[in-house]
Amino acid sequence: MHSPSRPHGPDTTRGTLRRRLLRWLGGLPFLPLGLTAAALPAGAAPLRPTPEDDIGPFYPLDWNGDIDGDLTTLAGATGTTVEGALLRVSGAVRDTAGKPLADAAVEIWQADARGRYRHPGVDPRTRDSAFQGFGRTMTDAQGRYSFLTILPGNYGTRPPHIHFRVAQPGRAEFVTQMYFRGNNREGNGYAPPEREALSVDVTPAKAGAPASATFDIVLAAR
Ligand SMILES: [Fe+2]
Repeated sequence: MHSPSRPHGPDTTRGTLRRRLLRWLGGLPFLPLGLTAAALPAGAAPLRPTPEDDIGPFYPLDWNGDIDGDLTTLAGATGTTVEGALLRVSGAVRDTAGKPLADAAVEIWQADARGRYRHPGVDPRTRDSAFQGFGRTMTDAQGRYSFLTILPGNYGTRPPHIHFRVAQPGRAEFVTQMYFRGNNREGNGYAPPEREALSVDVTPAKAGAPASATFDIVLAAR
């Protein structure tokens, strides 16, 4: 994993063995994950686990204050409007048997529209002060979560992405990054199957509704 002080550039330390394993898993006949949160029928092939990734250098250090699932409004940031295009990101967290994982904490953190993270390592004068930067919500009985955020801005050489962490009692933490299909180039050694598994399509905004993306997460048995 990165240390918090490490710059967030191209990463040469990603786990090669893990990647080989994920590539191997990618060749197995798993079912694609559907949009429903129902458990799989008896005898059905297991779901493919969502690939994991490093937590990176910008994992939030202080979870006090406004950390809810609406990253577009920040308590205390009066008179300003968040920059960027609104995006609703939602999905379901399930295990490989399709069982919804209820009461799991889902966290996201991401760059603002300027490509800056809300993190002590980033000069606050360079950020969008109206953007919450990170948030946490709990999955419901169907394993579903939802965040209102913005499309992350570009920074460095990395494609836009949103970091995810899922924590549930009795399970090891799960960490990954979500990318946007069509803008998911990655020079750090991702194999195409992993890249695609971590990429979402964005449904454009309609009258009264922001753009949206569905990112379902499958956790391997531990
Ligand atoms: Fe990042």
